[in-house]
Amino acid sequence: MNIDATACKEEFCRLLRSTERPGVDDVISDLERDGFFEAPASAGHHLNVAGGLAQHSIFVCKASLKVWEGLCQLDPVLEKEVQRDSIIIASLLHDVCKTDIYFRSVKKRKNQLGQWEDSEGYKVSYKSFPMGHGEKSVIMVLLSGLELSDAEMLAIRWHMGAWGVNQNSFEECRNYDTARQLYPLVAIVQAGDSLAAAVLERSAGDIDDL
Ligand SMILES: [Fe+2]
Ligand SMILES: [Fe+2]
Repeated sequence: MNIDATACKEEFCRLLRSTERPGVDDVISDLERDGFFEAPASAGHHLNVAGGLAQHSIFVCKASLKVWEGLCQLDPVLEKEVQRDSIIIASLLHDVCKTDIYFRSVKKRKNQLGQWEDSEGYKVSYKSFPMGHGEKSVIMVLLSGLELSDAEMLAIRWHMGAWGVNQNSFEECRNYDTARQLYPLVAIVQAGDSLAAAVLERSAGDIDDL
């Protein structure tokens, strides 16, 4: 998938500012400073190119909004229970933890003829702030000065769903389950993240590699 990093940055900022939430400009400044808009979404899988992280965040936002709109048709109460701006904030910012973990590198890779060749890619290092995944995103957003509701914090914290839960920890399983039951935003953003990665961001190369 070709990505226009400049266009992604503009769309990301437009969506985030559409919430009119105090503090979003401070978040954008910190993301610019830290390289969010040039970062890939992964080292070797979905959207592993510059601008991929912003593109992924936009896909998650759009998928989450569609999920919410569809659910509101089934249960109109949801329109009051979950605010549109909360979906935008939590989905756009769920993966800011990835801003500083990818570094450009050259790897050896076999081409279709079975010959080894250099392939530009990314390596991963967590040394700048080894705090975890969703929990790191929450902390980064708060440190930038954007206030988050409990629902928004929990939606960002648990956006990986069961994949991000330590199944050996009773406490963690209960926290995750309680967050999902209390706040529909948690399941909505989780669904948006899963749908973006598994459906919207698939490439022919990904399917070849299966
Ligand atoms: Fe994530
Ligand atoms: Fe994600």
